[in-house]
Amino acid sequence: MYRVQLPEIGTAAAWRDAARQYLAAGVPPDQILWDDHQAAPDLFAAQDYLHAQGSPLHVPKSFISMAQAVVWHNNPERFARLYQFLWRLRHKPTLMQDRGDPDLVRLRLMEKNVRRCQHKMKAFVRFREITPTGANRRSFAAWFEPTHHTVEPTADFFVRRFSDMDWRILTPDVCAVFDSGGLRFEAGQAKPELPEDANEQLWITYFKNIFNPARLKVKAMQSEMPKKYWKNMPEAAFIPEMIAGATARAQAMADAAPTLPPLRMARVQAQLASCQSEWGGPQEGLPAAISACIRCPLHKEATQPVLGEGPTDASLMIVGEQPGDYEDLTGKPFVGPAGQLFDKVARVVGLDRKQTYVTNAVKHFKFAPQGRRRIHQRPNPSEIEQCRWWLNAEIAAGSPKLIVAMGATAALSLTGNGRNISARQGSIEHGLTGLPVLITAHPSYLLRLPNARAKKAATALFQRDLKQAIFAVEQL
Ligand code: URA
Repeated sequence: MYRVQLPEIGTAAAWRDAARQYLAAGVPPDQILWDDHQAAPDLFAAQDYLHAQGSPLHVPKSFISMAQAVVWHNNPERFARLYQFLWRLRHKPTLMQDRGDPDLVRLRLMEKNVRRCQHKMKAFVRFREITPTGANRRSFAAWFEPTHHTVEPTADFFVRRFSDMDWRILTPDVCAVFDSGGLRFEAGQAKPELPEDANEQLWITYFKNIFNPARLKVKAMQSEMPKKYWKNMPEAAFIPEMIAGATARAQAMADAAPTLPPLRMARVQAQLASCQSEWGGPQEGLPAAISACIRCPLHKEATQPVLGEGPTDASLMIVGEQPGDYEDLTGKPFVGPAGQLFDKVARVVGLDRKQTYVTNAVKHFKFAPQGRRRIHQRPNPSEIEQCRWWLNAEIAAGSPKLIVAMGATAALSLTGNGRNISARQGSIEHGLTGLPVLITAHPSYLLRLPNARAKKAATALFQRDLKQAIFAVEQL
């Protein structure tokens, strides 16, 4: 039987070194008695570890991280439980993934408790100034009573936070002392008399101000700030008083509520209203409403929104992606290079553009400035979604029998399906408004193709699709 005495300070490293040695020597868990400092009164007890040779064990990172927390738990069995688990891990490296394993469940719970305790320590330590007269560095002390041995693993947080002053966190367990830039740990001590802090009033005022009686949830509050911490927190003295008066204060707040919504609320309400699924205005008001659109940020950079063009009673509707540079400047859809190519192909297949309603899925030009040029940027799904509101209103205001979606953006807006369009080109899909949608390529895609053969083939497909659109409209 081996007996391992672990020191109170540096416990984690001592346990790790010992566990490695005993594991390498093949010592089973029931042959080791692990004593924590309570059983080993010597704070810095030197370890008489077994010096064994053996191949090093590769332990999963997740175990190391868990063990680094569990060693600080206050349960005296923690070292034995960790070693027992490590022993099993040798033969079953996947054990860390077995969430139903009772040993792992227990260790995970211990880990969680320690981390929670560390979190509380970060939040509830309250320093009071103890700078001696004439000292050139300010000095602070705090009294804290942690549930687990969390002073050592949490001290770095305070070092990072308060590196420009001297401080000490005094606890009955271990004390952390940060002095002239160096951190050390000392034995725990009894509660000292600490001076009243000038900042104390500040804490109380702050706490009273952030306390909202209308949101009071006593259970949640006590779980976040457990009662046992209250005695060392100046502001906590006011908690019972504030809880007692909460109902009356909440009622007073409700009674005093303004009858008109404040400015910010009005803006929120306007935004909520704009989230309705349909534009509800009169048909003749649609162009003006689109012109005033600020539903997404694209209106900020674009020159103007580009409205659809053509007879509202057209049976065929053609939808592109968004205005390009020319369209943004002229305010008309499909007048730039892509529009000219569209016109050319339409003429070839006998489609009279003047008889169709031509518009875009997104009404504002999205671009990135590059020198003096404005480089086209594809609209994102949220921008497409915001603008679908207008596209649907255009569809509702007209009487199309068929809609041609040119490119992925139009296809997504009209069908809600964002899948690549190459496999869908030429097919007629069911649109979100219930109308048939013929999927085809965007003319600017044809313009971008570098290779003459590919361009010819893609143009032929585009012609085929427009011909199919003419034919389908006649049949519908
Ligand atoms: N590309 C489009 O999708 N629409 C236009 O109006 C111009 C170019």
